Amino acid sequence: MKKRIGILTSGGDCAGLNAAIRAVYHHATQNYGYEVIGILEGSTGLISRPMKYVVLDQDNCPESIIRVGGTKLGSTNKADPFHYPCEDGTKKDRTDYLIEGYRELNLECLIVIGGDGSLKIMNDIAKIGDLNIVAIPKTIDNDLGKTELAIGYCTALDTATHALDCLDTTAESHRRIMILEVMGRDAGHIALGAGIAGAADVILIPEIPYSLDGVLDRLNKVFATGRKHALVIVAEAITKENGENVAQEVTENGRLRYGGIGFYIADQINEKTSYETRVTVLGHLQRGGVPNAIDRVIASAFGVAAVDLAINKKFGRMVGWSNRGVIDIPIEDAIGTYSRVLKDDVLVQTAKSLGIYIGQL
Ligand code: F6P
Repeated sequence: MKKRIGILTSGGDCAGLNAAIRAVYHHATQNYGYEVIGILEGSTGLISRPMKYVVLDQDNCPESIIRVGGTKLGSTNKADPFHYPCEDGTKKDRTDYLIEGYRELNLECLIVIGGDGSLKIMNDIAKIGDLNIVAIPKTIDNDLGKTELAIGYCTALDTATHALDCLDTTAESHRRIMILEVMGRDAGHIALGAGIAGAADVILIPEIPYSLDGVLDRLNKVFATGRKHALVIVAEAITKENGENVAQEVTENGRLRYGGIGFYIADQINEKTSYETRVTVLGHLQRGGVPNAIDRVIASAFGVAAVDLAINKKFGRMVGWSNRGVIDIPIEDAIGTYSRVLKDDVLVQTAKSLGIYIGQL
């Protein structure tokens, strides 16, 4: 029987996951002679009875999946094995099922592609069950520590930038202020990057407090130059000026589901000025679509490096991107460091120097 590596995608999806799956499959089978088992629907595939998995082959994992968004293996962000939703409506600890599933499949190692939440859960289970895991970072939020890039972020950044490009022309035609609300949870990486790339006039991110006076001052200055339209980009997790959150919905994981702060900013502008505003909430468009070249490249490099770690028995580690190369760090260190935008970040300084209002620095 061939030696086996398992792979699963966990948490919210993004573009570039299939590129990583393809790289793991190719490197492990072609260069090491392993079999790769694709676990379906995140850890649910290992917990379900019968288990849900596929043996990856050229038909279900062709080279061309590098071009495809989402994840061919499926994912979930509401099936925490410690509080697993059962058919009778209760939640039970099903980590023992997962551990048993791993053993039954005779895996030498499980490669987990996930963000901070799912990596923490899988790391905890690996310790309990003495499982060998290696992690690959993915999240459009780019908030995982110890890696400059996670799979999905660059494509989401392109999508948000493209949205600003589209909004700019219609804003100009109608002499409006367009407010674009983007994802990112508690980190402002998408808003900051896209705001610079898309020449926004105002960028509001959760890490830097803002004042409505500051926003209005910048917009007034723009209009005083003769330009009659403007772009504002807001990260979904910014609060009202008084620190209140607009999101009311609590997710299955007990976290706030963000959304709607763009309308608050628009209302405030409408109340205090005669400018016309429109709001676009970009939402899951940022998670879908064809992965861009950088996501395909880093996902491929991550997939290859993760297999090398597995073969060399360097378990409990996560691959990361740093200084144009792949590194590996303890999973613990990566999930223990939440990467938010720092006030002295070069991009914050860049935005400021370009005259963009980015809050009270
Ligand atoms: O963490 C990725 C992310 O897309 C966040 O940016 C966003 O707040 C959240 O997931 C949305 O989650 P869901 O797909 O459950 O609505």
